[in-house]
Amino acid sequence: MTIRLEEGVGAGGEGLSVASALPQTGLELYQFLKKADVESKARVKFPEITRTVDQAYSSQRATYLQSPTKENLTKLASAIGFAGAFNFIEDMQPICKDGTVDGTIFPFVKLGPPAAVQVLEIAKITATDNVLELFSGVGYFTFFLALSSPQVLDCVDLYSCQTHDLESTFTNAYASIFSELSEIVRPTVTKPGFIQADCEALPNFEQDASFQHHYNKVLLHPPYGRESRKIVDLSEAQAFTLWLKSLASLSKANGQGAFQTYSTVPSEWAETVIQSMRDQQVDCAGTIRVLKDKLGISSQGVTAEESIAESQWANLLPLFATAQAHTIKSRKIGISVLTTEAA
Ligand SMILES: C[S@@+](CC[C@H](N)C(=O)[O-])C[C@H]1O[C@@H](n2cnc3c(N)ncnc32)[C@H](O)[C@@H]1O
Repeated sequence: MTIRLEEGVGAGGEGLSVASALPQTGLELYQFLKKADVESKARVKFPEITRTVDQAYSSQRATYLQSPTKENLTKLASAIGFAGAFNFIEDMQPICKDGTVDGTIFPFVKLGPPAAVQVLEIAKITATDNVLELFSGVGYFTFFLALSSPQVLDCVDLYSCQTHDLESTFTNAYASIFSELSEIVRPTVTKPGFIQADCEALPNFEQDASFQHHYNKVLLHPPYGRESRKIVDLSEAQAFTLWLKSLASLSKANGQGAFQTYSTVPSEWAETVIQSMRDQQVDCAGTIRVLKDKLGISSQGVTAEESIAESQWANLLPLFATAQAHTIKSRKIGISVLTTEAA
């Protein structure tokens, strides 16, 4: 068999020799990248997703060895990227502005690696996507999004930009996970832009230089009331409303053109939106009553801060008309990814 490298792959078939020296299986890659004798929590808890991630690596390596094109090398580096993030992102060290490591609050609110992998399977991000992440926190999920190599990646949070050094957190995590690898197979990442803003009141993107004029894929991981006390004190209904308000604010802010949203939320939230649309429950207070019924909380007295203005609600209706819920595997509460499409 003649093996011909495409231009730019690396002089003297460097990519090929590096790839053939790489471990053969996902498990061996995990052991190769592992620094200390610490088991990956994601591997132990989610064997099925582990198999998918391992398999993607080993088959991509085999494909590249068979057909060593530049495209296959990029795909191999990408599979290595997701395997690295899946196994080791839980050890990411969130760096504070004063240089200390935050080992307390944020590890509890991150989007865990198994959920991150499943959300990305649904969102199918490509190199031509302009991606916006709302409620990005200290950037655990951001790390996965950056490894998907979209054209643009901007990330919004109201608090973390002020308190945390997000760029150093990101750069250090990348170096600590992938530094053992030869540069030629290191995954490419899109450098995230970290923007401090209130997701409930996003500025018009065309008029604000921090943002792109338009994003075609938007991913949201808002706080859930049941666990938000660790960050901000919100009841479940208030957290649900914050999510709705962010979607409404996004619809208004996001320039001209079609876009899709992917919200990782408790399954009751996703079911509430779908049920409200089916029952033609078209005001926010009514929708919150549906949520409260689902959660077994008294539906009486939906307070003003739990409700949203009619104009915002009107922005949501076209999105919710296309809403679909995808349940994902999770060990804690039931989680769904609610997707919407706006023309
Ligand atoms: C569930 S956490 C997100 C964690 C993140 N996805 C990760 O994997 O690290 C929710 C985030 O929402 C942020 N937040 C809460 N209210 C907000 C608001 N009104 N606008 C923007 N961000 C907000 C909090 O600071 C917190 O980081």
